[in-house]
Amino acid sequence: MRFKIQTVADLARLKTDILIVAVGEKTKKLSGRAAGLDKASGGLLTELLVEEKFEGKEGKAAAARTGGKLAANKVMLLGAGKKPLTAAGARRIAALASQKACAQGAKTAALLLPDALAGDLREIGAGAAEGTLLGDYHFLKYKGEDLKKREAEALEELTLLAANKRQQDLLEKGAAAGRLAARGTMLARDLVNEPASVTTPSHLMEAAKAIAAAAPKRIAIKVYDADGLRELGAGGLLAVARGSDEPPYLIHLTYKPAKKAKKRIAVVGKGLTFDSGGLSLKPSESMEDMKIDMAGAAAVLGLFSVLAEVQPAVEIHGIAGLCENMPSGKAVRPGDVVKTMSGKTIEILNTDAEGRVTLADTLYYAVQLRPDLIVDLATLTGACMVALGQEIAGVMGNSQPLVDRLLRAAAGSGELLWQLPLADEYRESLKSRVADLKNISGGRYGGAITAGLFLEEFVGKTPWAHLDIAGPAWAEKDTVPHQPLGATGFGVRTMLRLIQSY
Ligand code: BES
Ligand code: MN
Ligand code: ZN
Repeated sequence: MRFKIQTVADLARLKTDILIVAVGEKTKKLSGRAAGLDKASGGLLTELLVEEKFEGKEGKAAAARTGGKLAANKVMLLGAGKKPLTAAGARRIAALASQKACAQGAKTAALLLPDALAGDLREIGAGAAEGTLLGDYHFLKYKGEDLKKREAEALEELTLLAANKRQQDLLEKGAAAGRLAARGTMLARDLVNEPASVTTPSHLMEAAKAIAAAAPKRIAIKVYDADGLRELGAGGLLAVARGSDEPPYLIHLTYKPAKKAKKRIAVVGKGLTFDSGGLSLKPSESMEDMKIDMAGAAAVLGLFSVLAEVQPAVEIHGIAGLCENMPSGKAVRPGDVVKTMSGKTIEILNTDAEGRVTLADTLYYAVQLRPDLIVDLATLTGACMVALGQEIAGVMGNSQPLVDRLLRAAAGSGELLWQLPLADEYRESLKSRVADLKNISGGRYGGAITAGLFLEEFVGKTPWAHLDIAGPAWAEKDTVPHQPLGATGFGVRTMLRLIQSY
């Protein structure tokens, strides 16, 4: 699928399979370019508006053949809702436009957004590119028939219509960023959607190597295997990995800008390629989705896959501990005590609270790089889903300015974040009688926060924020137009914006 932007003076003469006109809610009379088009077509659009009792509710559509009244084969009214157009609106509308065009059997489509482009045109261009490309994403490689059907019916191109060259330039600048953000997101989606038998720790490690190899001037990689991890003293990651036949890795990607970097940022991802729970085995229903437990690491890879083209002005380190949590005769047991890279010891009481044990090492590894800030992304707790639902990630941190910056970045990317407090009052629940910390709080409540507090023990004074993405890493339903069912690639777009805010 291609996303293009084009200035078209005479819309009536635009050749395309379907010309989509987005109209705001409660539009009684068309205005601006839509009105011009209506007139040229002898009132075709007004007819649709009146006969279909079209109210412009977001996502509602009405289409008709033009019968030669316009150069386009069909026209469609698409409800754009009542809010003024923002990046988020453009993202949703473009995703809906491409999906509806596809359903109409179109190969090419053009989209006319409401004339009052009140918002920032760059943002709208970015949103429209993201929406079009992300809404068109599908993972059908294991569904032969559906894949064939889909390939035969796919929309090939969506063109966003600009009114003039100045508009086109601004929209195009945003779209360039949006295309990259979408590409990084889709890489993360692919990695998460693949079954855990494919996305093993070695597979992710190789994927990271390939990303570095594709941008040798800007991106370098270090890989630590089990021996390397032992040298590092990464007893947490090694303990979690012990039950599995899959060898663990710690990967460390580094992006360096061409000019002197303004900041050094570390992004850490949880990389459990499968979480069975270990000896504290999960019940089957809870285990079904646990291939997604590497979504944090996938977001790091998605991010790095586009950095050489995004060219941020900051130095970025991407770190992930890759392993699988399995029960076996070699597995770590409840009651075992492990020593982490930082020297702190952890009493493992529940082997299913494994993410934090691996992050203890990867966060500490990040701290040693002396970054200005660390952000981790982790499908860490079911408790965060209980607190915030399936579409909102929890954010916690030891630096309010960093959390605020993340919240702003997320507002732009459209990814939903809500801050949870790292309340000192709960810290006590992580005290162990035999080790420095235990890996569960023991209580039934506040599990997202106690997990965050656990992580905080390993970052020292480095400004740090933690995103618990257990909910939004996976879309259970097709409710968000740019987020088809399955892996969402959550985090890539917010991190891109965060990085570019420095
Ligand atoms: N990977 C899970 C968290 C998770 C749950 C992610 C649902 C995505 C969807 C994590 O390792 C886990 O098992 N957490 C436990 C912690 C508990 C044992 C303290 C949980 O949330 O139940
Ligand atoms: Mn677990
Ligand atoms: Zn897990």
